[in-house]
Amino acid sequence: MPSTPAEQLAPLISADDLQARISELAREIALAFAAQTPVLVGLLKGSFMFMADLARALHRQGMAPTVDFMIVASYGAGTQTSGSVQLLSDIETEIRGRPVLLVDDILDSGHTLDFCLRRLRRDRPAQLRTCILLDKPARRVIACPTDHVGFTVPNEFIVGYGLDYQGRYRELPGLAVLNISADTPTGRKTNILI
Ligand code: IMP
Ligand code: MG
Repeated sequence: MPSTPAEQLAPLISADDLQARISELAREIALAFAAQTPVLVGLLKGSFMFMADLARALHRQGMAPTVDFMIVASYGAGTQTSGSVQLLSDIETEIRGRPVLLVDDILDSGHTLDFCLRRLRRDRPAQLRTCILLDKPARRVIACPTDHVGFTVPNEFIVGYGLDYQGRYRELPGLAVLNISADTPTGRKTNILI
């Protein structure tokens, strides 16, 4: 008889470790932009928590970035990228001639970042760098420039700290690996994610 899949979370990166790494990223970013003031462009929804902490960490480095967001969608209900990215909401900021830092939660196939970089380049920013909290290189399909990376992660489905599974788990203060298992007819557990 089919059973309801069970979701299990395995801690991956603690809230404290995230904050420590974000402080280091802010130092790197402050050096890279020198005395310039970048526009931070975050990709919603996944990057909302990272953007908030990164903006505060940049403030502690003496920077006064402005903040804008794009809403993009590439995922259906499951965990695999669809490959086609949709722009649901664009930035409002005039970025022509300005330094821009594109901020995202996780780089997986690369479709999302590639799409957003192309969109932003059209407006001819003076400088365009990327800051990605998590890099999952095992699943890359499109090569993307990653200037600032928080952590390299294994090929697992990760939730928490803004990252979701079907809209859930974004509120977790740390990151966890999500495993979903279901009983097979033989009584063995099988992982049905990825
Ligand atoms: P990409 O276009 O395949 O690089 O996927 C990027 C987007 O997919 C990210 O911004 C996330 O929203 C989502 N994503 C990719 N991997 C994961 C994951 O492990 N957990 C949660 N969301 C993910
Ligand atoms: Mg995302």
